[in-house]
Amino acid sequence: MYVATIIALLLLSVWSCNGLDNGLARTPPMGWLQWERFRCITDCETYPNDCISEKLFMRTADRLVSDGYLKAGYRSVNIDDCWSEMERGSDGNLVADKKRFPNGMKALSDYIHGKGIEMGIYTDFGTKTCGGYPGSIFHMEMDTKLFAKWDIDMIKVDGCYSCGSMYPEGYKAFGWFMNHTARPMIYSCSWPAYLDDKNKPYKDIADHCNIWRNWADIGDSWDSVLSIINYNAKYQDEIVPYVGPGNFNDIDMLIIGNFGLSKDQSKTQMALWSIMAAPLYISADLDKMEDWQKEILLNDEIIAVNQDKLGIMGKQVFKDNRGQQTWLKPISNNCSSVAIMSTRTDIPIMMGFKLSDLKLSGQQKVRCLFAKKDIGVISKSFKALVNPTGVVMLKLCPVHKKHRNNKHANKRHHVPPPVMNTTSTNTDQKYVYHWD
Ligand code: GLA
Repeated sequence: MYVATIIALLLLSVWSCNGLDNGLARTPPMGWLQWERFRCITDCETYPNDCISEKLFMRTADRLVSDGYLKAGYRSVNIDDCWSEMERGSDGNLVADKKRFPNGMKALSDYIHGKGIEMGIYTDFGTKTCGGYPGSIFHMEMDTKLFAKWDIDMIKVDGCYSCGSMYPEGYKAFGWFMNHTARPMIYSCSWPAYLDDKNKPYKDIADHCNIWRNWADIGDSWDSVLSIINYNAKYQDEIVPYVGPGNFNDIDMLIIGNFGLSKDQSKTQMALWSIMAAPLYISADLDKMEDWQKEILLNDEIIAVNQDKLGIMGKQVFKDNRGQQTWLKPISNNCSSVAIMSTRTDIPIMMGFKLSDLKLSGQQKVRCLFAKKDIGVISKSFKALVNPTGVVMLKLCPVHKKHRNNKHANKRHHVPPPVMNTTSTNTDQKYVYHWD
């Protein structure tokens, strides 16, 4: 059985060498994904509101609309593991758990689409999903056709219960079958999450997947968030060249709204996921969000950094032993987004950068994206007080000189804001900035 499958996959991978061509995910996908918060809760008697059931996905879709998430860009509800019966049906098709999805997947998809929201689903390239439910390895054609029939918009394909050498052919084959349904569906591959850290084949992965889950699963803690940030910094030179419109590095879900992150840590996750152009999938109970958590997730200026049409994954450009990390993402109109992040766990300290360290020059207008305030023009350096495990997130845009000879120029737009020549301070909420 395995030998036949390997031969079939090899043949398919030859046919599928054109790779992915679905025109989707031109900016990082945004939405909601079940796994981190709701895992594989199947006991609906003990956990009626939290179990993996049509009720959970319907109430989430309702909230995406009523609480402004959809308007802000979170446009999909994505089902993860544990949604199906433990056995396929008599025709070989996957069947949604009959108790937890009494109306079936097509009805759920119609409900979600009726709200103007997309729906994603989960399967596994191997014989079983990570939770032990039926996998797709011997049923790729059948499963992709079924998902298309259910009007699915995104398929997350996990990598449990398969052998490592089969990933390249297996993921390419699954994508080939996706391409051959008439339906464009975002292809989320967990392929690199199952490979050794060094020398992952990012080019091949980006040629065949829209987004790729990389490295460890996120948990509900600062340690987990920080370890993911550090992993991506370590391997950024290998990953960044393959990120762009159509291809994004999925560093796992946003856990803002749960139990493990403080306000500063939540801002840091939002800032860093945006700087890294990562998919923004919220995994939290939208019925139980605090206002401050919602405010962070709905910050339109930070979302705009994540969704910038250039689709560049930002990089860590500076790190020191005082706990500072500086990250920079080039964004449209020659602007840059900069996150100054503290990994300290004791006190707020002043952290900053020289423009030359960021390879920027001239005068740069600075806006603080959490405070939503323009804070001045810098020509040399910038410093801010950064809270422990917190972040200051900025947008820098070059100040354009006035064009004296252009009589059509709108003068008001060409007068640069005042330059602070001496070190100045400005208190804005909890931030203290110094710049020159
Ligand atoms: C793996 C994945 C997770 C989730 C679970 C489901 O651990 O990495 O994101 O999909 O499987 O079982």
